[in-house]
Amino acid sequence: ESIKVFAPATVANVVCGFDVLGFAVNEPGDEVIMRLTDKPGITISKITGDNGRLPLDPKKNTVSVSVEHYLKHIGRNDVGFDIELNKKMPIGSGLGSSSASTVAGLFAAKTLLEDRTNASQLLPFARKGEEMACGHGHADNVAPALLGGFVLIRSYDPLDVIKLPHPKGLYCAIVFPDVDVPTREARQIIRNKIQMKDAVTQWGNIAGLVSGLFMNDIDLIGRSMKDILVEPVRSMLIPDFYKMREMAMEMGAVSFGISGSGPSVFSFTRDEETAKKITQKLQAHLTSIKINSNTYVSTI
Ligand code: HSE
Repeated sequence: ESIKVFAPATVANVVCGFDVLGFAVNEPGDEVIMRLTDKPGITISKITGDNGRLPLDPKKNTVSVSVEHYLKHIGRNDVGFDIELNKKMPIGSGLGSSSASTVAGLFAAKTLLEDRTNASQLLPFARKGEEMACGHGHADNVAPALLGGFVLIRSYDPLDVIKLPHPKGLYCAIVFPDVDVPTREARQIIRNKIQMKDAVTQWGNIAGLVSGLFMNDIDLIGRSMKDILVEPVRSMLIPDFYKMREMAMEMGAVSFGISGSGPSVFSFTRDEETAKKITQKLQAHLTSIKINSNTYVSTI
């Protein structure tokens, strides 16, 4: 018995909400084909699309590690799985690549076992995968990959995850400049102390963004998507970040910022046409400075 599951890429932080906000996009995403076996233990028989970068060793792969935690939790040591992972998105892109694989794996496992564990209850296991991938179990990629749409992590301890509404007809333009920005390192460079006046600015913006989502107020969403805490540091790892912002905003973007820990950047737009034009223009700019890129346009 086997099953094929797709899980989507996600944009974590959504500019101002470091570690607390994220949303899923339609594409790209990853695919897991999982086979139930009656021999206990997890094997990974094949990984495609990763250029040989991901380990086949089930003790070192985020998908198998999180599925193993889940199996242990539900007490099923009588079964095993064989996993085929098809990476359909770049690794280390800031688009929740490891989360997409992990979430697809967990969902495949629970479905094959006809287990009633719901998507939110799979979150702790998915976080184990993140922990292994970058040393920190943030949930702002795995939660939207599991639940879809926009998600708020109101609290980590205890975990309190809330699905948020969003205006219809909001598009997301994503550009992935092909430079290496490992999440682990992108987390190490950010400051761990902030000033009260900066905190005030930041939580005003987060509240503004969440209000805008509820009120269908795209202008409010746009003017709230500012980050004075993390972006000033991480933007240094992204080629021509401020130039790309200027170009996107001039073309009518609602917002522009880093996706997750980067190097991908994203804009919200009010229509598909603008999103496409932005991705084309930014890609052409990156090509002119000799940087390869991938682009994606999605509804959210
Ligand atoms: N919130 C996480 C970070 C997301 O910014 O480090 C990583 O994709």
